[in-house]
Amino acid sequence: MKKTVIVTGGAGFIGSNFVFHMLAKYPEYRIICLDKLTYAGNLSTLKSVMDNPNFRFVKDDICDREAVYKLFEEEKPDIVVNFAAESHVDRSIENPGVFLETNIMGTATLMDACRKYGIERYHQVSTDEVYGDLPLDRPDLFFTEETPIHTSSPYSSSKASADLLVQAYNRTYGLPVTISRCSNNYGPYHFPEKLIPLMIANALADKPLPVYGEGLNVRDWLYVEDHCKAIDLIIHKGRVGEVYNIGGHNEKTNIYIVKKILELLGKPENLITYVADRKGHDLRYAIDPTKIHNELGWLPETKFDDGIVKTVNWYLENQEWWKNIISGEYQDYYEKMYGDR
Ligand SMILES: NC(=O)c1ccc[n+]([C@@H]2O[C@H](COP(=O)([O-])OP(=O)(O)OC[C@H]3O[C@@H](n4cnc5c(N)ncnc54)[C@H](O)[C@@H]3O)[C@@H](O)[C@H]2O)c1
Repeated sequence: MKKTVIVTGGAGFIGSNFVFHMLAKYPEYRIICLDKLTYAGNLSTLKSVMDNPNFRFVKDDICDREAVYKLFEEEKPDIVVNFAAESHVDRSIENPGVFLETNIMGTATLMDACRKYGIERYHQVSTDEVYGDLPLDRPDLFFTEETPIHTSSPYSSSKASADLLVQAYNRTYGLPVTISRCSNNYGPYHFPEKLIPLMIANALADKPLPVYGEGLNVRDWLYVEDHCKAIDLIIHKGRVGEVYNIGGHNEKTNIYIVKKILELLGKPENLITYVADRKGHDLRYAIDPTKIHNELGWLPETKFDDGIVKTVNWYLENQEWWKNIISGEYQDYYEKMYGDR
């Protein structure tokens, strides 16, 4: 059956991978990407689908009520998947304001549009960071959907606030919502300020690889395609009003990841430079994905050892993409594409 899906934040890392997944899997669907193109959004990422007749790109802000309502009037979406967010913890520590604006107010604006125009499903892409962290010496503990919200950074607090609002819109207005809380993603089109692409770029340039503290913080890594498949299942088969945790039982310390990247690139470990730890740095994240597995049959398909090889190869083969970001040139791409239209 034909459906129209609005994907917000579709010019970012996970959103773009989701756009590709949806266009490939559902050739009868219409996919609309709504993205403000902040520093994290990169229109050249979507180059391969820009001419697809089932795809439309709209440059707008999810906080701009007038623009959002206009888009809903034009497209009458069946499903909205909200990836748009300020997503970098370090930036949230420097400047929390924009995180509250986009992550909370933007979510409210999208849901108001869903209420006004009607919707089959509103899906909120959230994060395991809303659960806070787990101690390093208790490998038996995992985040379940029942784990209390207990945030550490302005970023995770803004995402948790949005989740509460999403649940309130379900309870108060009967909005058909779902929420997914995923662990750390890696894969193609990851912005080069994040751990894995940053380490690849620095290693290739023989620059120091900055590692927080002793590098012992643990993250549960999931290949981005597996995250996209999980969201696809949730929006089509997930139960309204429910939260689904998504994670791959792929827990690795940061230092393990960094050493693995050096090994794959044939670079020496003396490039590693330990730097002062991040304020309030969460120790360990680990997801229990039992619910999504039992209810929807989801399981991660890509093992970390394969995913990291695919990722390093992608960054080797797509150097222009990330070098343009590092140089700032990607921000001119929109002007080049649309400047004279
Ligand atoms: N990256 C991860 O490991 C991870 C893990 C779990 C959850 N998440 C969540 O997944 C979502 C996507 O994460 P990502 O890593 O792809 O982020 P990203 O920073 O790569 O992309 C965010 C996108 O949102 C757009 N955007 C920002 N503010 C906007 C606004 N006001 N209006 C419209 N568009 C706006 C940006 O231009 C960008 O294209 C986020 O909600 C994040 O909280 C990410």
